[in-house]
Amino acid sequence: MPLDEDKYPVESDRRRFVKGVVGGAALAGVTTASAAAVNSATAPTGAGGGATTFYAVENTDGPAPRGMPQIPIEIDDEGYLKGAWPEYEEGDDAAVTENYGGSDVTYSSAWFQYCGVQTYSGVYPDADQDNYFRYSSSGYDWHSDVGGDRIHVDDFAELGEDWREWNTSFGTRSNGKPASGTWRSQDLSPQETMPIQVIRSENVLELAEEDPWIEASTAQGCIAWLNKCTHFCCVPGFKTLEGSAKFGAADQIYCQCHQSVYDPFSIVRKSFVALPRPEQED
Ligand code: FES
Repeated sequence: MPLDEDKYPVESDRRRFVKGVVGGAALAGVTTASAAAVNSATAPTGAGGGATTFYAVENTDGPAPRGMPQIPIEIDDEGYLKGAWPEYEEGDDAAVTENYGGSDVTYSSAWFQYCGVQTYSGVYPDADQDNYFRYSSSGYDWHSDVGGDRIHVDDFAELGEDWREWNTSFGTRSNGKPASGTWRSQDLSPQETMPIQVIRSENVLELAEEDPWIEASTAQGCIAWLNKCTHFCCVPGFKTLEGSAKFGAADQIYCQCHQSVYDPFSIVRKSFVALPRPEQED
């Protein structure tokens, strides 16, 4: 499969789910053009980069070269949402879980190594970070008072409108309730904060019935992704801007920087060249 083949995709195929594996070859020093342009912090050598296959919310329009990587979700015994982190073994270039949740998909920490995120402390495979999703203080009115708190699955029903009803004044469908948050970024600077979005939606429940990866990587109708646009690394939003309607994105994830559009309910397998992580100082 050619790398970054989803630039300007011909059509959205909501049922295009195929099994994937992560390429293990290390190609330190290889960069994608767009990420290289914005990532002056990348060291010329490093670890854990290379050809990587991942699962993404599909890029359906605009200049972004591919979708944004999905984060598999776990819900703990108390109902709090976590982004699963793959297993790390001493000496490995990346944290990797093969056959994630019985889905036959190999999940790797390399999925998130682009747009400078490969330099963030939380993306190092052995980083001692907790995996809970925490609310951002900005993003959506319904969680603006609980910024920094862990995201609980019941919040989607109990804070503001119920997740089956939540909608905006623009757009044509009530297709889920979104939250903006952070992941693996506790006690780190804003420059090292990994932005995420979560949606709880009946669409996700339906998709999970059809596909083993969606079933394994979502929980109780919640789906999540690293919210860094693959074009030039802005932070997009699902139904955050009324102006997105002018670009056919009123019900999609929309990046206002250059009008890239992503569909959170179309999960596709894609490939890219993960950027190597700089060597860490002892
Ligand atoms: S479309 Fe350019 S950064 Fe998102």
